[in-house]
Amino acid sequence: MLLILFTIIIVALITYLFVKPLIDNLFNYVPHEPKYIHSYLPIIGFGFEILKNPIEFIRSLYLKYGKTFVIYLGSKRWVYLFDEQTYLTKVIKSSDLSIDDFLTDILVKGLDINRKCLTDKKIQELQVKQFHHYLVGDELEILNKLVHDSLIQSMKFDANLLTNNKNKIVNFFDFFGEFMLFAGAEGLFGHSFTSKQQNTTPSFYKLFQDFDEAYKLCFMNIPFRSILYKTILHNRNEFIKKFSFLKLNNGESKLINAREELYRSNEYKHLFREYDINGLQASMLWAAVSNTAPMACWSVVDLLLHPQALEAVKQELNENISSSSILIYDKDVLSNLKIFESCLNESMRRVRNATSTRQAMVDTTIECLDKTKIGLRKGDMLVYPAFLKNLDPNLFGSNPYGYKYDRFVKKPNQAKAPSIMIFGCGTHTCPGRFWAMNEIKIFCTTVDPFS
Ligand code: HEM
Repeated sequence: MLLILFTIIIVALITYLFVKPLIDNLFNYVPHEPKYIHSYLPIIGFGFEILKNPIEFIRSLYLKYGKTFVIYLGSKRWVYLFDEQTYLTKVIKSSDLSIDDFLTDILVKGLDINRKCLTDKKIQELQVKQFHHYLVGDELEILNKLVHDSLIQSMKFDANLLTNNKNKIVNFFDFFGEFMLFAGAEGLFGHSFTSKQQNTTPSFYKLFQDFDEAYKLCFMNIPFRSILYKTILHNRNEFIKKFSFLKLNNGESKLINAREELYRSNEYKHLFREYDINGLQASMLWAAVSNTAPMACWSVVDLLLHPQALEAVKQELNENISSSSILIYDKDVLSNLKIFESCLNESMRRVRNATSTRQAMVDTTIECLDKTKIGLRKGDMLVYPAFLKNLDPNLFGSNPYGYKYDRFVKKPNQAKAPSIMIFGCGTHTCPGRFWAMNEIKIFCTTVDPFS
C-alpha cells in the first residue's frame, strides 16, 4: 500500500515537473518570444551546463539558435540576447526592465537579509550614490594607499615565514587571494578591524570562501541545504558576525561609515536588524574582493607567461615612476600606465565570464535595432553575454584566447582601441572599477614579477 502511494506521488511529481513548463507556456506566453530551448532536468534546467562551462555552453546555443534564445536556469527563465547595441540603447534604458528586484532576491535568498530593508527605493538610491561618491577621487587615493601598505605587510610577513620553511607549496590563487582579502578589508574597514581578523581559527579567508559558497547555494535554492551544507552556512554566519565588531570612526573608509550611518539613522533604523547591517557590510567586502582577487592573480600569471608583456610593462613603470616622490598608489600615475592597463584588460577578457543582466518587471517587448522583436514575460531575466563579444574571432583574431598584451593600446592606424565589457553597463556599472584596476596594478607591482 505504502509502495503504491509512494509510486503515485513520484509519478505525480515527475509529471508536474515536466508538464509545468508546458502549462507556463500556455498561460504566460507573450508575442515574439525567442526560441525556447528545453532542458530535460526539471528544477535545475541547464544549471549544470552553466556551472561547468558557461562560455562554451552559451556559445554553442548561440551558434545553433542565433542571437536570442530562452533557457531555464533553476526555476527562472533566462533570455539571452547577443546584441550589444540593442542592449545598450534599448534594454538598459527601458523602464520595464530593472535589476533592483533581482539584487534584492540575491541578498534575501543568499544571505537571509530582511527584504523590508532592501526594497525601500530611497535607501537603494542612497546606497548607489554612496558607491559612486566614495570610490573615486581623494577617497580612491586613500583606498589605494591602504591596499598598498597591506600588501607590503603581507609580503613581509610571508617572507619571514619562508625563511623558516623553505619548501612551502601553496595554491597561487588562495595564497594571494588571502592577501587581496586583507588588502580590500584594510581599505574598506580600516586597520583596527582588519588586524583583529589575522591568525584566527577558522581563518578569515576560509570564512570568506564559505560566505561566497553559501551565497550561491542559497540563491540557487538547493533543497535541504541547511542539512547538506551545515558547515558552510555556519561559516557564512560566522563571517557576518565579524562585522558586528566594527567600531565607527576607527579608520574605516567613508563608504563604510556612510552605509553604517544610513542604516542606523533615525529615519531607517526600524527597517534593519543587527544581522542585516552586518550582512550588508560583509557583502560589500565580498563585492570588492570576489572578482578583484582572481583577476589580480590571472594578471600576474599572464605577465609571467608572456616575457614580452613583462618587459613592456617594466619599461613603462620605469618611465613613469622615475622619482621616489611618485608613489605606486598615486591614482594619476596608475591611470597613465596604458600598457599595463592593456595587459590587465587582456587577462580579464580571456578569463572573465562577463555578462550584464536586467529583469522584466512586466510583460513587455523589446524592439532590436534590426527591427526584430523580443517578447519578455514578467520575471524573465534578460542577459547580454558580453563574453561572446570578448572572445569573438571576428574582433580578436582566429585564436581569440591568444594573449596580445598591447591589444587595448590605441595604434596610430586605428580610429579607437577595441572595447570590451567587463564591469557591466548603465546606472549599475561597477562603481568599484577604478579601484579594482588600481588594486590589480598595485598587486602586480608588489608581487613584482618584473625583478
Ligand atoms: C575586477 C574586479 C571587478 C569586477 C570584474 C566587477 C564587476 C562588476 C559587475 C559586472 C557588476 C554589475 C554591473 C551591472 O549590473 O551592469 C558590478 C557591480 C558592483 N561592483 Fe564590481 N567588480 C569588480 C570590483 C569591484 C570592487 C573593487 C568594488 C568595490 C567596492 C566593487 C563594487 C561593486 C558594487 C557595489 C556593485 C553594485 C553596483 C550597483 O548595484 O549599482 N566591484 N561589479
